[in-house]
Amino acid sequence: MAERAEVVFVDGVRTPFGRAGEKGMYWNTRADDLVVKAMIGLMERNPTLPGDRVDDVAIAATTQTGDQGLTLGRTSAILAGLPKTVPGFAIDRMCAGAMTAVTTMGSAIGFGSYELAIAGGVEHMGRHPMGGNADPNPRFIAEKLVSEDALVMGATAERIHDRFPAYSKERSDRYALRSQQKVAAAYQAGKIQPDLVPIAIRSEMGWGLADRDEAPRPETTMEGLANLKTPFRPHGRITAGNASGLNDGATACLLASSSAAKELGLGVKMKMVNFAFAGVEPEVMGLGPVPSTEKALRKAGLSISDIGLFELNEAFAVQVISFLDHFGIDDDDPRVNEYGGSIAFGHPLASSGVRLMNQLAAQFAEHPEVRYGLTAMCIGLGQGGTVIWENPNYDKKAKR
Ligand SMILES: CC(C)(COP(=O)(O)OP(=O)(O)OC[C@H]1O[C@@H](n2cnc3c(N)ncnc32)[C@H](O)[C@@H]1OP(=O)(O)O)[C@@H](O)C(=O)NCCC(=O)NCCS
Repeated sequence: MAERAEVVFVDGVRTPFGRAGEKGMYWNTRADDLVVKAMIGLMERNPTLPGDRVDDVAIAATTQTGDQGLTLGRTSAILAGLPKTVPGFAIDRMCAGAMTAVTTMGSAIGFGSYELAIAGGVEHMGRHPMGGNADPNPRFIAEKLVSEDALVMGATAERIHDRFPAYSKERSDRYALRSQQKVAAAYQAGKIQPDLVPIAIRSEMGWGLADRDEAPRPETTMEGLANLKTPFRPHGRITAGNASGLNDGATACLLASSSAAKELGLGVKMKMVNFAFAGVEPEVMGLGPVPSTEKALRKAGLSISDIGLFELNEAFAVQVISFLDHFGIDDDDPRVNEYGGSIAFGHPLASSGVRLMNQLAAQFAEHPEVRYGLTAMCIGLGQGGTVIWENPNYDKKAKR
């Protein structure tokens, strides 16, 4: 019998996120190189990690072809310089790919089979447009299992606005504006930079260095947001301003059993408490984090009031609002996305789960008064995923 273990998040990094497309900073960079660079950066930050002790490498991508194909976990482990004895594999749960890589590796550690594992994700949405080369079974539509627009994420967000008329476009825009402002403030305070692995990039102008996110728009105003087109529906409510964008980027993190972390002198930024995934109607996929969070809280024996920090993926402002509304949390509650979210940073699909974790880990260090936090995200085709974490710096006597 394997001996059950406590699972810890040792450290996590990411590449700066780029804007997808020919004008984006990673247009001439391979997707797999992004995640390889993130893994190298992670190992450089944790020099006491013996590469040959890594039990497995799980790397997520939504579109697993071309430079995102060929079992990414294995190819990127070799390219990152891990010994060839270290195995690896690829994972897909669309937007929650990296989150699923973490829960899968965390489960193997918790079960006692693994001691150390790398988990992460990459999405180069410039080279691999969303849904590109996918061939959804026609029965989905023909047999009315899902409606056609359930496969278009922006359309599913429009449906949340339809379903909950109280979530106005103005409210979504205001949420989006705050996300931009929080990201700008977090950059200004130097809170984002420490977890970024700079990447050498090539453009027509020669070599350069990507060392900050390309997508944030600190100049955003309510007037600017109000005038944007609604690409998913005439007179709709979803715009480029209140949605996450199309981006390129990669993330990687190191997970360990608490005993292996102690033995190797590795830091502990978070302890994994529990997690859950749940399904909802694909037509309103953005509601997914509500049941996944209820399920994860139930399994953890906690309630929403025990959670002191939230890192919610902002696929669309309206789906974050639906989560907050459900749990009775204000749109501008300071516990939520303290450094801003995907509306400003961007959302390279399968990589984003670990960005949420990096940010929660940084906030845990700043908030010893907080014991529990959670990372949650919605997932295409109608799912949600939630991971609950405990703060190792928790101090009962500390005050907010
Ligand atoms: C919404 C979406 C279609 C917009 O794509 P796009 O048109 O390529 O987006 P752009 O960045 O070019 O922005 C469009 C316009 O809005 C403007 N804009 C974007 N954000 C803005 C902001 N915060 N303030 C002011 N203007 C803004 C841009 O400048 C651009 O203006 P232009 O047309 O005059 O150049 C795309 O980002 C999208 O599909 N997002 C959702 C991604 C998704 O589904 N992810 C999975 C989640 S489950």
